[in-house]
Amino acid sequence: MDNLFDVAVIGAGPGGYVAAIRCAQLGLNTVCIDDWKNEQGKPSLGGTCLNVGCIPSKALLESSENFERAGHKFAEHGIKVDGLSIDVPAMIARKNKIVKAFTGGIGMLFKKNKVTALHGRGTLQKRDQARDGGDDSWEIQVSADGKEQSVHARHVIIATGSTPRTLKVAPVDGNNVLDNAGALALQQTPGKLAIIGAGVIGLELGSVWRRLGAEVTLLEAQADFLPAADEQVAKEAYKALTRETGLTIHTGVEIKSTRASENGVEIDYVDRDKNAQNLKVDKLIVAVGRVPNTSGLGAEAAGLKLDERGYISVDEFCQTSLQNVYAIGDVVRGPMLAHKASEEGVAVAERIASGRQGATDSSAHVDLGMMPWVIYTAPEIAWVGKTEQMLKAEGVAYKVGQFPFMANGRARALGETTGFVKILADAESDRILGVHMVGPYVSEMIAEAVVAMEFSASSEDLARIVHAHPSLSESLHEAALGVDKRAIHI
Ligand code: FAD
Ligand code: NAI
Repeated sequence: MDNLFDVAVIGAGPGGYVAAIRCAQLGLNTVCIDDWKNEQGKPSLGGTCLNVGCIPSKALLESSENFERAGHKFAEHGIKVDGLSIDVPAMIARKNKIVKAFTGGIGMLFKKNKVTALHGRGTLQKRDQARDGGDDSWEIQVSADGKEQSVHARHVIIATGSTPRTLKVAPVDGNNVLDNAGALALQQTPGKLAIIGAGVIGLELGSVWRRLGAEVTLLEAQADFLPAADEQVAKEAYKALTRETGLTIHTGVEIKSTRASENGVEIDYVDRDKNAQNLKVDKLIVAVGRVPNTSGLGAEAAGLKLDERGYISVDEFCQTSLQNVYAIGDVVRGPMLAHKASEEGVAVAERIASGRQGATDSSAHVDLGMMPWVIYTAPEIAWVGKTEQMLKAEGVAYKVGQFPFMANGRARALGETTGFVKILADAESDRILGVHMVGPYVSEMIAEAVVAMEFSASSEDLARIVHAHPSLSESLHEAALGVDKRAIHI
């Protein structure tokens, strides 16, 4: 049979491209099918993460933070900057250059690892063993620009990702009402910007445009700010993001309607005290979560089970309801994070290569409870494991160790003293159950907490490990000492 592969991966985001490379490394003949096109209409590998997600948003966060530092933080170092200005098109061009380098890099990695890349929309065909000559392969129809071809594969990994959730009352028009892709491509700082949804995208992109001079209002439906984070971290972050970054955040609102015109957008909403409000802005970003992407995949026809929320149903090993068909990343349950998608891709590749599909051992398995979360605002927010409110709800007895960056020498030198590190440890065994941070570069510091927790460390273990001085990581050390009430510097 022509075009028979060991593995076909549908989707080349951080789930799919990583799965494809790992399959190929393990000697499996692998094809990766992806339909993403960039603004120039050219195929572009890397999915949401590389094209309109993680990488471009971090590029803009870095540029805007540099502008913020130059304008507001350099003075205390005695550095004077006269005539500071921002060239937004240059900033966007830099971001685009980074995206191009990375998306092009995936193509090179595919070549190096002998992954066949196929551009087009992949549709899983209903299994027809008679036509397939009785073997057990799957057929995938690939369509691109009116052309059709089919590939066959013994195993399929679906990594079709997610798309922005839409709101009926605020339809995205790509002009003044934007989704995350539009919000990453503005050529000019809006005077007034509203964002529906004070989640991760809202806070990160809101920070970008606020730092560049926009007046930013976030309208959030939930009563609590960042309810997934530890409550104390959420409170500290709220204080810093409203007072220091200057975001205006209204929680507990209900959006009633929006009206977009050439001149801007009007938003009618009811505030948390049930008062009707009207807000006029130049641009509106809708960032109300993302939904699994199964459109055009042929899931139903092929008999693939979806859950009630539209995610592809999988077990803990990412096995779907169909034999030899796996699904990973945003299109299945669990946090919508690039590193989660990638780790699932590696686990599935290794499972397929070792012929252990159907086995239930834990070697090729991703522990969703050990997933680090990072929000790249200033201060950054990062956590892994259980929050204090979760432990209370579960009735687990725990101890707390906490250390403020204000008392950390490196943070003082950086001039970034907002925030703290907090460790939650089991009251009896001392095993670390959760680590929560808000402060400078905690996106990097969280890795130590993940390693500690993956190795079932106690807070005593962390307290006994030497940490370089002066470093931000000493705050984690001091928080570990603090669990046993023996922190030195506070
Ligand atoms: P995706 O990256 O969505 O890739 C899916 C790919 O499959 C796409 O290329 C799509 O075109 C293709 N596809 C879909 N259907 C088909 C089909 N039928 N045939 C062929 N191809 C198909 N996560 C983090 O961990 N850290 C961050 O800092 C971060 N920042 C983000 C910022 C923004 C603005 C956004 C929107 C997201 C961010 N995320 C971040 C989330 C992260 O981007 C996703 O979790 C991640 O991209 C999911 O990877 P995936 O491989 O499952 O899917
Ligand atoms: P989100 O789930 O983080 O936040 C969406 C917010 O919108 C929620 O707080 C929700 O309550 C609110 N909302 C929903 N409907 C609303 C309505 N009608 N009116 C007002 N508010 C409403 O989703 P977001 O920000 O869209 O991001 C999607 C996902 O992308 C994230 O959950 C995350 O998994 C991923 N991401 C990760 C990043 C990172 O790791 N740093 C950065 C950006 C995105």
